[in-house]
Amino acid sequence: MSEKYKRKYTFGEDYGTSFYKFGPITLGEKPRLIENRGYFPDKSSVIYKLMGITREVIVGEKLPSYLESKEDLASRLIYPMRNGVVDKDDEKAWRVIEEITGYGLKAFRSVGSDFKGYFVTAALSSIAPRYMYEKIIEIHRKVDWETGLIRAVTIIPQPLAVAIAHKAPTCIVIESGHGNTQICPISRYPIRSAIIALNRGGSDADIITSQILYDAGYGDIAKEEAIVRRIKEAIGLIPKRLNEAIREAKRNYEKYHVKYKIAGTRIEVDLGKDSWTRFLIGEYIFNPKDEMFESYFKRGMRRPRDMKIGEITFRGMMDLGEAIIESVEKCPIELQPYLYNRIILSGGNLQWKAPPQFKDVAVDSATKIKILLQEKGVEGIIVETAPEPKYSVWRGCIVYGYALPKDYKWTWENMEGWIDLHA
Ligand SMILES: Nc1ncnc2c1ncn2[C@@H]1O[C@H](COP(=O)(O)OP(=O)(O)OP(=O)(O)O)[C@@H](O)[C@H]1O
Ligand SMILES: [Mg+2]
Repeated sequence: MSEKYKRKYTFGEDYGTSFYKFGPITLGEKPRLIENRGYFPDKSSVIYKLMGITREVIVGEKLPSYLESKEDLASRLIYPMRNGVVDKDDEKAWRVIEEITGYGLKAFRSVGSDFKGYFVTAALSSIAPRYMYEKIIEIHRKVDWETGLIRAVTIIPQPLAVAIAHKAPTCIVIESGHGNTQICPISRYPIRSAIIALNRGGSDADIITSQILYDAGYGDIAKEEAIVRRIKEAIGLIPKRLNEAIREAKRNYEKYHVKYKIAGTRIEVDLGKDSWTRFLIGEYIFNPKDEMFESYFKRGMRRPRDMKIGEITFRGMMDLGEAIIESVEKCPIELQPYLYNRIILSGGNLQWKAPPQFKDVAVDSATKIKILLQEKGVEGIIVETAPEPKYSVWRGCIVYGYALPKDYKWTWENMEGWIDLHA
């Protein structure tokens, strides 16, 4: 099997908490994605047997059409990851991971006549414990055994994939998805002892958006997660400085007034005199400690909490600037300026743009991080946002798999190389 073959059949997988992103090199810039979840239907039901449904777990785009009663949802609809981690003994969760992995590979099963299996690069959270690596390898063995679609597999940490996609050997990657945020300094390899993980991501911005909608009299909408998320992405703004932005939005009411029409329905959300709250949504991602949020916590809004998963503590309330500084300062002093010099943002939660008409008070994610760091006395900061932040991990998987020589064998000491499933 040649190097050329390996390049042709490079396949990437990014296991995100909310989305599993997957696909072969031929897709180009964008992977396919499905929600990282599985539904366990009531198999005892006669109707299921009559309709010829034999699967134990349902995953993929059509999952919603299988849902049954609301009461059973919590026990039957399984989201296998929390902050990028699957519990070791959570059998149902691992079943879901196995099913989505098979789903991803089978989706690209019609390939050339020379096809003898993909070279798969899977990306996991930078804090994923070793047992996750072992399980993921085992799952690929199983999927290959059933389908014959995998030749070899390798695993890399998500921030490293991002650095590779940017050809940045020395940098700090901030990967912020739906559930959590990883801050990972890289000097050729991730500096493990300096990684900071936050128990905060896009889902927390959804929570405050939901509260804002509730306060504005849209209690029903506030309960529908997917709609809240859409509204958040459409109306949220990141303030340069929160106080000033709020003052300006209250003073210049017409300009910041926001309405949002829900496509395909008769519903229009109008935030009216509360339109200034748009700035709270953006600020919350970067600094939930601002006193503006206290009144929300007092009324019962869930606070991002410190959480221990395995050995790692995920910090809840730490502001993002502070977190970056803490991470950088765990690295050698000589390296520190080089890290501040190349901060790469990735993940959907840092995709925020600043609409030009609000440029006096609103900024994009990169500028916000620069401001947070400058306020704390850091100089020489260069921040860049990945062109397609949601897909940069997957793209990194492809670049890595393409470049990693096919005869380079996996070792547990280095945690790199190919595991040849047919060896
Ligand atoms: N344009 C946007 N503006 C603001 N937020 C956005 C935008 N696009 C996506 N998001 C948010 O990004 C989050 C999803 O990001 P991403 O796909 O990187 O997460 P994930 O990889 O599934 O999860 P994780 O990395 O936490 O395991 C969601 O909360 C979504 O609402
Ligand atoms: Mg992710």
